[in-house]
Amino acid sequence: MKIRSESAKPLKKKTSVLCAFVLENSNEPLGLGKINEKINSSVKDAIKETKGKIGGISIVSTLGIIPPKNILIAGLGPKNKLSTDVLRNVSGKITQKIRSMGLPEFSIIVPSGFPIDSNSSISPIVEGSILSMYSFDSYKKEKSEKSPNLSILVSNSQNAQKIISKAEIVSQGVIYARSIGNLPPNDCSPSRLASFANAIATKNRLKCKIISKDELRKKGFGGISAVGRGSKNEPKLIILEHNKGKRNDKPVVLVGKAVTFDTGGISLKPGDKMDEMKFDKCGGCTVLGIMKAVSELKLQINVVGIIPSVENMPGSESYRPGDIVRLYSGKTAEILNTDAEGRLILADALSYGIKQYSPKSIIDFATLTGACIVALGNNVAALVSNNQRLSEKIKKSSEKTSEEIWQLPINDDYMDMIKSNVADMRNIGMGRAAGTITAAAFLANAVDETPWAHLDIAGTAWTQDASKKKSYNPKGATGFGVRLILDYLSTL
Ligand code: BES
Ligand code: MG
Ligand code: ZN
Repeated sequence: MKIRSESAKPLKKKTSVLCAFVLENSNEPLGLGKINEKINSSVKDAIKETKGKIGGISIVSTLGIIPPKNILIAGLGPKNKLSTDVLRNVSGKITQKIRSMGLPEFSIIVPSGFPIDSNSSISPIVEGSILSMYSFDSYKKEKSEKSPNLSILVSNSQNAQKIISKAEIVSQGVIYARSIGNLPPNDCSPSRLASFANAIATKNRLKCKIISKDELRKKGFGGISAVGRGSKNEPKLIILEHNKGKRNDKPVVLVGKAVTFDTGGISLKPGDKMDEMKFDKCGGCTVLGIMKAVSELKLQINVVGIIPSVENMPGSESYRPGDIVRLYSGKTAEILNTDAEGRLILADALSYGIKQYSPKSIIDFATLTGACIVALGNNVAALVSNNQRLSEKIKKSSEKTSEEIWQLPINDDYMDMIKSNVADMRNIGMGRAAGTITAAAFLANAVDETPWAHLDIAGTAWTQDASKKKSYNPKGATGFGVRLILDYLSTL
């Protein structure tokens, strides 16, 4: 899908469909300008049809009277609820409509004198269009139709092309995260994931290091080694470095859980929906998507991505409930449930990231707890952090990108809930109480004083039963966190 900006007068633009937004209960399509009387009355009828309701779309032919062949009116809903996310969602709906009509190109008018200024409208339009065109069809004979090209009509196209290019890179980062996240577990073992990381590194000139099974054991990665032991697909620790900042500038370290399949191990999960545990690698995929985009955006900062990857399987070699494991930090963990595996591999990766890079901040992404879905549902990720400044910055980025997060507390009382009688920690809390926070408390033990933010994306990493339907989040992995953290990184 090619996207270009143009400062053409909308009604003079030769295009198969000219798209204009309209607010609810308004009869003025934004930025369309004054049209021929005859077309105008059918445009007004089209507006009456949907009343500008959010997502409502109607199309009228211009009967060959003006250069655009058709005019599409897209409702944005009420003005007081208008946001960039509405624009993203509606732009995706428009693009899906155009594709379903089999058209090769279309144009969207970016209105000026709109509650959102025209420059801030461009990125969500681009993101909505690109992201809504994604579908995971590489295993199907029948592919989705070709995405149409888009002309974005702005009154002043000075910065527009730059904004478009950036939004394209960000969107491709999201799509990359989705495309790996959606892979079935038989085609995405930890070593496969490592080779994908390697491929990005080669293409985008990132530094890449893969630590394999024997070295992991020798270097003391007790968590990754224990969880990885039950599978014949050996564990890997994947490290990507983007070093475009000053030499002595401390990096931001991003850590992503990549359990390529989570059966629960010896504490086996029930069969219902177990297939969805192919998405247990999505935290790692988010990190891959971010690293890809960071390098393409040429951000002048240092960023390190660390992805611990394992397959959690039951078998004669598996780690067991009752085992005591020594983590990379030197602390010991009593295993009481082998299904609480994510925190073990993340703890190792976090401690390693801190020891190796002394980062200015460390952020992790993980489909860590079912409890997160119970607490926040499928549209909001949990944030747990030891640093309020970092938390507030990430919340700001969340407001900008509409990848929603909600902060949960952490304090010594929660830390006490994972104390063990026989080791430094236990890998699960007391019963089901505060499951998302006790998991985070386990991670907090690995980071000590380094500013750290943990994002539990269990509910948001892929579309689930209670996921809000959004045009730009088609079925499957969503790439949650890529846009959010790219925004955070771009403010540094
Ligand atoms: N990957 C799961 C968490 C998960 C479950 C994410 C369902 C998304 C949907 C994680 O490894 C896990 O199994 N967590 C356990 C922890 C428990 C044993 C303390 C859980 O949430 O049940
Ligand atoms: Mg598990
Ligand atoms: Zn898991």
